[in-house]
Amino acid sequence: METFICKIDREKPDMLLIGQAGAILAGGGLVAFPTETVYGLGADAMDARASAKIYKAKGRPSDNPLIVHITEIDDLARVAAAVSEQAHLLARQFWPGPLTMILHKGPEVPRETTGGLDTVAVRMPSDPIARQVIKASNTFIAAPSANVSGKPSPTRAEHVIEDLNGRVDMIIDGGKVGIGLESTIVDLTGEVPVILRPGYITEDMIAGVLGSVEMDKGILCNSTLDFHPKAPGMKYKHYAPAGDLMIVRGPQAAVIARINRLVKEKQVMGLTTAVIAADETVACYKCEHVFGIGSRDSEESIASNLFDLLRQMDALDIDVIFSESFEGGGLSQAIMNRLLKAAGYQVLEVREKTDGY
Ligand code: TXA
Ligand code: MG
Repeated sequence: METFICKIDREKPDMLLIGQAGAILAGGGLVAFPTETVYGLGADAMDARASAKIYKAKGRPSDNPLIVHITEIDDLARVAAAVSEQAHLLARQFWPGPLTMILHKGPEVPRETTGGLDTVAVRMPSDPIARQVIKASNTFIAAPSANVSGKPSPTRAEHVIEDLNGRVDMIIDGGKVGIGLESTIVDLTGEVPVILRPGYITEDMIAGVLGSVEMDKGILCNSTLDFHPKAPGMKYKHYAPAGDLMIVRGPQAAVIARINRLVKEKQVMGLTTAVIAADETVACYKCEHVFGIGSRDSEESIASNLFDLLRQMDALDIDVIFSESFEGGGLSQAIMNRLLKAAGYQVLEVREKTDGY
C-alpha cells in the first residue's frame, strides 16, 4: 500500500489535509497522527473491521485492547456503559490531556476494539492535530501507539515512517511530540481506582482528585514473573533495544566509576558500547557513544528523549548499553517503568566508590 505522508503545522493545521485524514478514517482506513503523548495509529473504533487493521499493521496480539479517543466529555456516555462520579471528576480535572480511564464498555463499541474485554479504555487528547483529525472523522478513534509491536512508542514522525510506511494509508508529520511517554492509565472498574500504567498524570495528581489510588503491582517490577498486570499490553516485551541494556543505580560517583569500568571491559571484548546519562554527568563517561538524556532538574526533558534514544541504540548497532537510573519526582515512576522494561529489569546496584570495585 502507498502511504501518503504529509506535514501539518500544529499552530495552523491545514484543514484540507485534516479533512482528508478524517475521510480516510471514516472510510475504514488507517491514519497515524501526533498526540501530546506519543504518535497514535488511528482507525474507526466503532468499526470492527477497521480496528482489526490496526492489529495487522502493528503486528499486535489480538488480545491487547485499544484506547478509544474522543473529543468531548459528553462522548463518554456513547463509549462507556456507566460513567461513574469518579470518571466525571477525573475528566473534568485532566481532560483534554494524557489520562486514559478504563470503564465498563458500552454496547456500541465492538469487542475487536477492546481485545474481547467487557471494559473499554477512553482518552480525550489535547493535541490540536489529534483533536481535529478525530472530529473530522465523525466517529471515535481507536489509537494505539504508532509503532511496530514491541518497539518504543514513536515521538517523532520519522519513527512512525520507519515502522509503518507502506502499512497505513496516511502519516501526519506534526513534529516532535510534547510529553514523549504514553498516557497514564487508571482502571475505574473495580472497588478502588488502580493505576495500570504510570504517565504524565501522576499518582499524587489522581489521589488529589479521588482521595486515594493504588498502583498496579506490576508497574516497577518484572510483572511477567511475579504478577499478572491488568493492562494486557503491559505483559508484553516492550521498548527493548537489540543491544543489552543495564541500569546502574547507586551513589553518583560509584555509578560513574562502575559504568566506566564496565565499558572498558566490554570494549576489550570488541563490543560497541553506549551510555545513557543525565546532562549533568554526561561529560564523566569515557565511551564511544554517550547520550545526555536530559537534566535531572527537568524530568520532562528526560521523558521526552527516552524513546528516541532507545531507537538510536538500534540505529547505531550498539551491543551493550549502560544507563544511569532516574529516580526522583512525580514523572520518575513513568520514566523508570519504561526504562526498566527496556532493560528487561536488569539493574546493577552499586555502593560507595570506596568499597572495592
Ligand atoms: O498516550 C497514549 O495512551 C497513546 C496515544 C496514541 O493516545 N496510546 C497508547 O496506546 O499508548 P497503546 O495501545 O500503545 O497502549 C494502551 C494500553 C495497552 O497496554 C493496553 O493493554 C491497555 O492500554 N488497555 C487498553 N484497553 C484496556 C482495558 N479495557 N483494560 C485494561 N487495559 C487496557
Ligand atoms: Mg503501545
